[in-house]
Amino acid sequence: MNIIIADSYRQLSDTAAEIVANQIKNKPDTVLGLATGSSPLGLYDALAKMCEDGKIDFSRVRTVNLDEYVGLAPDHPQSYRYFMDKNLFDRINIRREMTKVPDGLASDTDAFCKDYDSYIDSLGGIDLQVLGIGPDGHIGFNEPDGHFTAATHVAELDPSTVDANSRFFESRDEVPKTAITMGMRAIMQAKKILLIAPGKAKKEILFKALEGDITPRIPASVLQLHRDVTVIYSDENR
Ligand code: GLP
Repeated sequence: MNIIIADSYRQLSDTAAEIVANQIKNKPDTVLGLATGSSPLGLYDALAKMCEDGKIDFSRVRTVNLDEYVGLAPDHPQSYRYFMDKNLFDRINIRREMTKVPDGLASDTDAFCKDYDSYIDSLGGIDLQVLGIGPDGHIGFNEPDGHFTAATHVAELDPSTVDANSRFFESRDEVPKTAITMGMRAIMQAKKILLIAPGKAKKEILFKALEGDITPRIPASVLQLHRDVTVIYSDENR
């Protein structure tokens, strides 16, 4: 595991963007796994800038996102589809049909989840997966549990996650309590993983996950079993 301690949020974001850009230069039809949350916002800004400056070409890149709230329409301002369009996809030269975010309105969620995994498999898996980490150690919405869940599935959000994510909603009641999340198999089968964790609030859970026991009670701890993980931490938050 390669752990980078950045001096600032800006440096964390620029370092992450270099890693993504190199990946795309080496493989123009890269399959990128993408994350939401505040952690990757600086990365997405840096990628948009690189694209505008002609330093990176997304025309052949395919993306798959980790998760989406159940019940939120793609145009809901708190949906992860809306987040991705606004913060990245609308700012780069990627075609919308090359970007996938789980469908929060899928009527048959079980069938949707199976199809999502099949789609990822049909692309040959993920080349580079970007991850953040939740306050309880979740990745995507793989929440602390008695076991790891391999497949894409509907997850019940931990009360601490609902609390943490309520900052984006008018009230806690409006935060969806379930979400579709990529499971551990697709994440762990990614060829490379890039975990970004800015802010002192992430420090304790991050180091527990990276250096403590491997346990589904701290979902990110499973990353210790992956052969190519880069972690970038900065004391400074976004
Ligand atoms: C959400 C997302 C995660 C993300 C986490 C951390 O719960 N589902 O993928 O990593 O938030 O968010 P932040 O980066 O805002 O701390």
